[in-house]
Amino acid sequence: MFSKEIYTARRNELREKTGSGVILLPGNEEAGMNYADNVYPFRQDSTFLYYFGLDKPGLAAIIDTEQGRDIVFGDNPSMDDVVWSGPQTLIQDQAAQGGVGNVQPFSALHVFIKESVEKGRKIHYLLPYRYRQHLFLSDLFFKSVEEVKKDISIELTKNIVEQRLIKGEEEVEELDKAVNITSKMHLRAMEYARPGMKEQHVMAEIYRIALEEGPGVSFPPIVSVRGEVLHNHYYSNTLKEGQLLLVDAGAESGMHYAGDMTRTFPVSGTFTGKQSDVYQIVLHAQNAAIEALKPGISYKEVHLLAANAIVDGLKSIGIMKGDTQEAVEAGAHAMFFPHGLGHMMGLDVHDMENFGEKYVGYDESTDKSEQFGLNFLRLAKKLVPGYVLTIEPGIYFIPPLIEKWKNEKKSAEFINFGKLEEYLDFGGIRIEEDFLITSEGSRLLGSPVAKEIAEVEAIRAGA
Ligand code: GLY
Ligand code: MN
Ligand code: MN
Repeated sequence: MFSKEIYTARRNELREKTGSGVILLPGNEEAGMNYADNVYPFRQDSTFLYYFGLDKPGLAAIIDTEQGRDIVFGDNPSMDDVVWSGPQTLIQDQAAQGGVGNVQPFSALHVFIKESVEKGRKIHYLLPYRYRQHLFLSDLFFKSVEEVKKDISIELTKNIVEQRLIKGEEEVEELDKAVNITSKMHLRAMEYARPGMKEQHVMAEIYRIALEEGPGVSFPPIVSVRGEVLHNHYYSNTLKEGQLLLVDAGAESGMHYAGDMTRTFPVSGTFTGKQSDVYQIVLHAQNAAIEALKPGISYKEVHLLAANAIVDGLKSIGIMKGDTQEAVEAGAHAMFFPHGLGHMMGLDVHDMENFGEKYVGYDESTDKSEQFGLNFLRLAKKLVPGYVLTIEPGIYFIPPLIEKWKNEKKSAEFINFGKLEEYLDFGGIRIEEDFLITSEGSRLLGSPVAKEIAEVEAIRAGA
């Protein structure tokens, strides 16, 4: 945990910003894989962690904005719990480490909420994202799940987003730790993968590092020779000479901050000519985006800079044609780069997207586009020092999408569909890193991992 002063200051800031009513923050519960006691690894709710630091199931808390008090609700382990799970620190002792002296039994929360509702006090709560939380809130407020979702506090959502988006020094330290573990995972994947192995062997190797160095991965990794399938969670393909392996993986730090990095490298020791051409375009787009990072620029502008670089590059190898600007405005690049350039990162790999990405990545001056490609842009608003975000451009050759656009003659003035016949089995390339926005520009988080072609090939050759 951080110091109790940090948690107290965080709660006081939220209390002051919100000004009236009661803020209710439920923690997460254990979730059974196939029966109640065979559980998935426990992951605390990130907002609960941020304000209270308590990394245990069975807890909820309130921040009372008017009476200046914070209360943690939870029950100490019974003897049965001790028999099955071992002796545990009392909740009072843990809560005190986060600066909370008032701990009450979980059942007291129901009484507290009932009395607050009777007094006409506003209860602020966030959009639940687990079904168990929906049911818990439904039961607590005597409301249907639909009513629970309708009555979330937009004010609380915005206040928490505003606070959690600006990372404190102690958070940046944790993020650096998470990305350092992440860097080790990627370096190891590059050293380890060999033709004849299966994707799952590389997956197991990087998972091992995440588990040796911290609580584990920050999201289910992608380790695939089918990099064009954006969220590919199949790991049984055999690595073959001539293929590219895309690894998108990240670790959590001890305090559950996330890292998120992607590297794409050749299964053979070296890139083919075609692979290095496309790789160089992605790398150039990523560098153009990184150079543009600074306070005041909107992330949408940075995304469009990368899109421009991708179109210019694809024109240079005969895959696209026409005016670059017009192609990007028409969304023609999205056939190759259909996702957003990146997202916010923090305690969650996609930080706070459980609240709805419009509250995190957009504001009054930015609207979500409905154009294919831009509709997947999760972050568009202006950058501010303290933001932590990813830069992850990619180029993918997705045969069903190519087929569809070709049949519809979509963006035919910008795409050489004939030339694309040579790329149908190419796969995909993405390069991803994590950045802190500083007052001068940006800083790469964690230790750098090879990404220039010569550096990657040197590692693949065992140099
Ligand atoms: N790891 C998922 C992403 O890069 O957004
Ligand atoms: Mn990623
Ligand atoms: Mn990412």
